[in-house]
Amino acid sequence: MPHVDRLIADLFEEEDRAREMANRLMQLARTSKAAAAAERERLVTFLRGPMERHMAYEEKALFPRLEQKGLAEEVKVAKKHHDSIRSDCEQLAAATETDAIAQLVFDVARFMMHHTNFECDYIYPELTRSEWRALIQETAHEEHHSR
Ligand SMILES: [Fe+2]
Repeated sequence: MPHVDRLIADLFEEEDRAREMANRLMQLARTSKAAAAAERERLVTFLRGPMERHMAYEEKALFPRLEQKGLAEEVKVAKKHHDSIRSDCEQLAAATETDAIAQLVFDVARFMMHHTNFECDYIYPELTRSEWRALIQETAHEEHHSR
């Protein structure tokens, strides 16, 4: 697979992974508060690591170009989601009661789900495959630095 196609596939796979993880955590939080609370550390590590790198790449490399393509409103919403995910993550890291931790695990997971669905439904389809290739090609070096 050419390099740029690999990068596009990576980006979409990251979204899929976030969605799957969110789905599983929401189910878990509905089933058992203790089980959901036990996932806190792993979730916080994911949010501060791969998820943060993914969001930072989007903000730095993708969003400015999407704004130029007339998607300023969509980008504004997506940025708000990113901020909510970050602040919920910090609350989650700081929470001490099992009930509160379980609730925050659920809240963050729901936000991740909502956000990835939003990007998939409202942002990604706005660009053609060749526009994506061009965009990713231009930003490939920034992607590299973020890892
Ligand atoms: Fe995003």
